[in-house]
Amino acid sequence: METRIVRINYTKENEPDPASEKAIAEAGRILKEGGLVAFPTETVYGLGGDAFNPESSRRIYQAKGRPSDNPLIVHIADIGDLPELSDRIPKEAYLLSDRFWPGPLTMILPKKDRVPKETTGGLDTVAIRFPSNPAAKALIREGGGFIAAPSANRSGRPSPTSAKYVIEDLSGRVDVILDGGDCVIGLESTIVDLTSEIPTVLRPGGVTLEELREVLGDVEIDRALIKDDSGIAPKAPGMKYRHYAPKGDLTVVRGEKAAVERYINGEIEKARNTPGHHIITAVIASTETASSYRADIIKNIGAREDENAIARNLFRILRECDDEGAGRIFAESFAGPGLKEAVMNRLLKAAGHKEITV
Ligand code: TXA
Ligand code: MG
Repeated sequence: METRIVRINYTKENEPDPASEKAIAEAGRILKEGGLVAFPTETVYGLGGDAFNPESSRRIYQAKGRPSDNPLIVHIADIGDLPELSDRIPKEAYLLSDRFWPGPLTMILPKKDRVPKETTGGLDTVAIRFPSNPAAKALIREGGGFIAAPSANRSGRPSPTSAKYVIEDLSGRVDVILDGGDCVIGLESTIVDLTSEIPTVLRPGGVTLEELREVLGDVEIDRALIKDDSGIAPKAPGMKYRHYAPKGDLTVVRGEKAAVERYINGEIEKARNTPGHHIITAVIASTETASSYRADIIKNIGAREDENAIARNLFRILRECDDEGAGRIFAESFAGPGLKEAVMNRLLKAAGHKEITV
């Protein structure tokens, strides 16, 4: 399949310009005909198909190389469209949509019959999100209003935060890639399950636990997220897969600044002195400490207090570590509240939960 790559440009009002609007309308027509379109959102790029067309969903799984028991998020561009997907909408859903939509929040609700099981991975529930990216909103409208989309990476790779990585992963596998520049958040949406008695976070993301509690009061966290080796299956089927894993051996190092630096530099020294082939070493560090490491590759992820930068840069840096052949990767810990919960969830997953405290 030939993939068309279309650059989206924005006007001063942050809307797609006329030429981009035309390209989005054309991409919307392709979606209505059962085709696949990768598109930018504020979180990560999505790989879209018509949510009501089971054949489109099958094609999404195929293009991604993803197990078909892993349900897709249905993207809408109008809160008024919620009742098309679910006829049991609790008041919490409206409290959340009022406050956080459009934006990086996905809600799980009981699904209507018309939502095909192919889209929900066989589940009776459906995940729904209203993204804020202007190109995404326009594409959803042009494509009929209901676009199923997982992240636009090949299964097992970090979610793409710029079109370059979508092109790397999906060229020849989708009809169109809309290039709308870099994603402003850079981590996937927060998923909250509203079908359980107490609303439950299944995946941390751009909307924080603190913000959810402001609106809903009581909010739980899926126990499988709190401790990965608890033996409990996560409620979001996708969370059980080892995602984002870089090819190199990644360890997260936690502790006082000086102890972390000493430990990592010591390990780098050992890797250097190992006879045989040279192992390329990399460190993922904050701006404050980046210059203290003696690794082959230093990745400055952002200032420690700038959680937005850390979130935005993480997936790109994991991909760059692969591209630059890093065999041994050390990351500082960025543990903390708010968006840092989501950062650490992804980073620890990437490390296969290999974390040491020094
Ligand atoms: O930010 C995002 O959410 C991005 C952009 C493109 O919108 N999408 C995204 O989709 O991250 P994906 O498919 O990579 O991740 C969706 C997650 C998976 O872990 C999946 O198992 C879970 O949502 N999920 C989807 N439907 C579900 C359902 N009905 N019940 C529980 N978990 C569900
Ligand atoms: Mg994904």
